[in-house]
Amino acid sequence: MPQPYRVATLVGSLRKGSLNRHAANAMAGLAPDSLTFEFIEIGDLPLYNEDLDKGDPPSQWRRFRDEIRPADAVLFVTPEYNRSVPGLLKNAIDVGSRPYGASVWAGKPAAVASVSPGGIGGFGANHHLRQSLVFLDMPVMQQPEAYLGGAGSYFDADGKLANEGTAKFMRTFIEAFARWVEKIAG
Ligand code: FNR
Repeated sequence: MPQPYRVATLVGSLRKGSLNRHAANAMAGLAPDSLTFEFIEIGDLPLYNEDLDKGDPPSQWRRFRDEIRPADAVLFVTPEYNRSVPGLLKNAIDVGSRPYGASVWAGKPAAVASVSPGGIGGFGANHHLRQSLVFLDMPVMQQPEAYLGGAGSYFDADGKLANEGTAKFMRTFIEAFARWVEKIAG
């Protein structure tokens, strides 16, 4: 079998019982063998400050950039905070985008899933995130869209997916992403 594509996976929540992390784990578990998932730490990244990029940048920024750079693709799984992207995830995107001309994002195929206990499934965060990804020159999978609403009832006490309809949708989504990655990353 050819080498699987490496998917850097970013979860926009630090919460221990995060529904988004549960969803990301579930999607990784449902994915075809052509993808492997690496969960990238973003909770330790100092807030972006251009001054710090002039000399020796913070070690956490260097570690983060070094982990994203070799990835073939990126999967974003995010909550919605106040109808937008959580600051945590936006900061990670900003850190990866600089220094100017050395973005780690450009050209990498991506997909966005938003997960919320609310009814509209994080639509606002999903689309605000897509806006940044357009600017960062990341080809983002268009369909199927993934607005996973009502997510409070998807998982059991151990964070395992316990909803058949959601599992079916997640499989469809992640299989489409595998095809998208293969098409773009070749
Ligand atoms: C929220 N939440 C929320 N939900 C939503 O659907 N739309 C929103 O705009 C917001 N805004 C918001 C702001 C802040 C600061 C918090 C802390 C929460 C609720 C959110 O969807 C819920 O807490 C999720 O469970 C967060 O995702 P994780 O941590 O479970 O992955």
